[in-house]
Amino acid sequence: MFFKALQEDISAFMARDPAAHSRAEVLICYPGLHALMVYRMSHWLWGKDWRLLGRIVSQVAKFVTGIEIHPGAEIGRRFVIDHGNGVVIGETSIIGDDVTVYQGVTLGGIAPAVDSESQKHQKRHPTLEDGSIIGSGAQVLGPVVVGKGARVGANAVVTRDVPPGVTVVGIPARVVMPRDRKKAKEFVAYGTLTEDSPDPVIRYIETLRGQVHVLAGRIGELEAKLETCGQGPENGSFDGDREDEPTEIASGGKS
Ligand SMILES: CC(C)(COP(=O)(O)OP(=O)(O)OC[C@H]1O[C@@H](n2cnc3c(N)ncnc32)[C@H](O)[C@@H]1OP(=O)(O)O)[C@@H](O)C(=O)NCCC(=O)NCCS
Repeated sequence: MFFKALQEDISAFMARDPAAHSRAEVLICYPGLHALMVYRMSHWLWGKDWRLLGRIVSQVAKFVTGIEIHPGAEIGRRFVIDHGNGVVIGETSIIGDDVTVYQGVTLGGIAPAVDSESQKHQKRHPTLEDGSIIGSGAQVLGPVVVGKGARVGANAVVTRDVPPGVTVVGIPARVVMPRDRKKAKEFVAYGTLTEDSPDPVIRYIETLRGQVHVLAGRIGELEAKLETCGQGPENGSFDGDREDEPTEIASGGKS
């Protein structure tokens, strides 16, 4: 079982890193793989309720690899951490299959509850759905969902859900270009699209579609908030000068 998972992990590194030339090289020289192997052990200990031992094992891996994966995190198959230094994956993170993250990525916690005791029982960290790619230095904060096949650009700061298949960049993260469904099923090293990507007009339309999707979600959220305050559309008009939270993911795009 362990060796089968290891074989699969090595194949994933070979497939996704153009700099990987042999399986032996991946096995010996890739801290991302080493951190993942140790994580599988610490996660097993965590699941058996040997939590302190799980934490100790994961701290040893952090010391050796520079990658901190909390043993409580849930990680799917074929997870690739490329380079790896400075990666932090928090306790309640959930990572699907075929996800790739680069060095310096934080899957960090933001919790609405005020006291740390109730925060302990909340989901505080992100969920990365299958096939998503998180660029180097990106900070994904809070219990947000990065959708299937979405790409987060290097150094972006994400604090809202990212719809499936889109690309977000910047601080705060905003949609620049969604991937079409076909592309979302493929892995492109570093997340960059190739010359066979859709032409610029199609990409622009796809960008607009992604933004409409995000805006529709935000409108839904705002309507729900208004309804809670007894000011929903069915209860009257949207009067007053409200200062909404920044609409970071929804506000960007190519121009
Ligand atoms: C976000 C990313 C996936 C987009 O790749 P792409 O689909 O090829 O997109 P493009 O290069 O056409 O960029 C689209 C737009 O986003 C901008 N952009 C791309 N990456 C950006 C980033 N990280 N931060 C801010 N803006 C970015 C581009 O300037 C461009 O803007 P424009 O249309 O105004 O010119 C890619 O740039 C990225 O950051 N990949 C992560 C790579 C990485 O971490 N490598 C580490 C390897 S060690």
